[in-house]
Amino acid sequence: MNDGGQRRYGPLGTTLVIIPTYNEAENIEPIVARVRSAVPEAHVLVADDNSPDGTGKIADELAADDDHVKVLHRKGKEGLGAAYLAGFRWGLENGYGVLVEMDADGSHQPEELPRLLTALKGADLVLGSRWVPGGRVVNWPKSREFLSRGGSTYSRLLLDVPLRDVTGGYRAFRRETLEGLGMEEVASQGYCFQVDLAWRAVKAGFHVVEVPITFVERELGDSKMSRDIVAEALWRVTSWGIGSRAAKAVKALGRG
Ligand code: GDD
Ligand code: MN
Repeated sequence: MNDGGQRRYGPLGTTLVIIPTYNEAENIEPIVARVRSAVPEAHVLVADDNSPDGTGKIADELAADDDHVKVLHRKGKEGLGAAYLAGFRWGLENGYGVLVEMDADGSHQPEELPRLLTALKGADLVLGSRWVPGGRVVNWPKSREFLSRGGSTYSRLLLDVPLRDVTGGYRAFRRETLEGLGMEEVASQGYCFQVDLAWRAVKAGFHVVEVPITFVERELGDSKMSRDIVAEALWRVTSWGIGSRAAKAVKALGRG
């Protein structure tokens, strides 16, 4: 499967841009408008975790005015991973060919989406990457850049994933990729969900391509990044790394 250039890729089908939200009342209208104008044929699914600030209600109003906008209301805050899994399931059930992950706060610029989609014509999964040549971050404190670069490097070394930006959240999947990476078994709740999916895609032999993006830190609202999210990422990535190394060692012993 991993023969990049050789393989013939099928047509992409309709794109669904999934935007998970928790308290993004100031951001939701502008981000949906930007997606609609950058890629008018794409549909948008807002996956809201019953935000106390009324984001879900604003999303419903947008959906009432525009048949390309849908809303998935969830019971309460269950993490980014759970919101995306529900959004993916909805998108697969409704026949979309491409499923895109995008933050609500403007960090992932919709104007860059056409480049991701063009790359997906010759790939199974495209990652918007901050840490490849041409990629960058605007307005991040040094501490946050350190955390992100460190998290990516740690995951890359421990899991042997040949990717520069494993934690990023701006991505485009072909439906077949999501169907083939074992989504049912994903337990990650927070941002390590991103590492989880990238690693699964690589292990399943999918052709993963990184495209440089400019990540712009939010101006409105607050990041949901927390100590718990970092802790979950650290223990999960570490235990995946140890588990896969142990499995490889057992296999080697069996052969010897
Ligand atoms: N539905 C739902 N439920 N949405 C959530 C939740 C949740 O529990 N937690 C966060 N979100 C949404 C936010 O509302 C936003 O649209 C998006 O997920 C990203 O959250 P931010 O809080 O803005 O993330 P960040 O800017 O700190 O982190 C970014 O970088 C991380 C590290 O590279 C994101 O792009 C992450 O996806 C990425 O892993
Ligand atoms: Mn953000």
